[in-house]
Amino acid sequence: MPVQIVVGAQWGDEGKGKIIDYLSEHADLVARYQGGANAGHTVVIGGERYILHLIPSGILHPHTICYLGNGMVIDPAALLQEIGLLTQKGVDVKGRLFISHRAHLVMPYHKLLDQRRELANEQRKIGTTGRGIGPAYVDKVHRMGIRIVDLLDEATLREKIMHNLKEKNAILKALYGQLPLDPEVILRDYRELDEQLDPYIADVSRALNLGIASGKSVLCEGAQGTLLDIDLGTYPYVTSSTPTSGGACTGLGIGPTKIDRVLGVIKAYTTRVGMGPLPTEIAPESDIDLRTLGAEFGATTGRPRRCGWFDAVVANYAVQVNGIAAWAVTKLDVLDTLAEIKICTAYRHHGKEGKNFPADLAVLEHCEPVYETLPGWQVSTTGARTFSALPIRAQQYLRALTEITQTPIEIISVGPNREQTIFC
Ligand code: IMP
Repeated sequence: MPVQIVVGAQWGDEGKGKIIDYLSEHADLVARYQGGANAGHTVVIGGERYILHLIPSGILHPHTICYLGNGMVIDPAALLQEIGLLTQKGVDVKGRLFISHRAHLVMPYHKLLDQRRELANEQRKIGTTGRGIGPAYVDKVHRMGIRIVDLLDEATLREKIMHNLKEKNAILKALYGQLPLDPEVILRDYRELDEQLDPYIADVSRALNLGIASGKSVLCEGAQGTLLDIDLGTYPYVTSSTPTSGGACTGLGIGPTKIDRVLGVIKAYTTRVGMGPLPTEIAPESDIDLRTLGAEFGATTGRPRRCGWFDAVVANYAVQVNGIAAWAVTKLDVLDTLAEIKICTAYRHHGKEGKNFPADLAVLEHCEPVYETLPGWQVSTTGARTFSALPIRAQQYLRALTEITQTPIEIISVGPNREQTIFC
């Protein structure tokens, strides 16, 4: 498939890292188009665990070239730390990793503002990762952001840091009683980081377009998920970027006519971290403990994830807004021991059933899921390598997901390891 976008269809943490790693075997270029170090992908290869936040998991295949697109916000210290960890594990990224010169930088004041804002107002808390993502995108849209390209010229960088800090220090002092940040310290630190980053800076849009023109296959990776999208998600409980497929064009500088296909990654059940409604949430005190079964703790913050049943209203909404052509269903094995498994087929609101995903959070909060209950298979699926090797009831569950979403399943993941993957 020449140019394919891979999107998360729920609230993030669908297991995109593993799917990108799996698909990267047949990809030449892998490009991430939004977000920053708020993402966390865990990939297990030969018993070795790799946790990546900024770099696409495609980097774990020696033949792929990876790109961080202009739609991202990049914390240079976090990126260099990730490069360092990969190098330590024998993954050479030199000449295989490029950062768009148009991407925005996450600055120390973005992280401070993110964390202080969350602490200051319990009622309006979003439950962010504290990585400075929201404030960095605010500055971008406010046209006062600092970009990777600004690192290349000391005078420009100094002027921009000075200008930004005037405002940021005033806010930090007035609202949070914070001592002012020293522009000279930030300038020195970012100049030092730049010395190490320089070899990775490139015109990513141009490189990708040249690659597409020469017939290379490209995977465009969206971090987070559809319901965390700033426009289409459960606003305001969202991230500040565009994880949905449209974000791939603006976040990488490639035209929509170059995109061939969108693959949706969806867990066999639902999870979310942070605040906001989750209609199919299973009460933590219930006997059904998907959190323990699925090791549902955030790769970035370690926070426990909220867990619930598969929500077809959400899945169908994701198909609609992303143009999803096929599914990769992940973590099927987490359901292996359950006696019964539920699928939410519609929402009931004030006695009326509907299948549309509401924009109004007050409505969503009061939506009651309408469930269809299927029998569990209660046999391990972790060793299955073909669809027909799955227990019949697991096959029936997957067929039900296909039917209700009118979307075929192409990939099934039955465990964290690379080889625990079924291509249908
Ligand atoms: P932020 O992206 O750190 O601003 O956080 C905004 C919301 O998105 C919070 O609810 C986070 O928990 C959530 N979020 C951000 N990144 C991820 C992710 O990679 N997986 C799941 N949730 C995420």
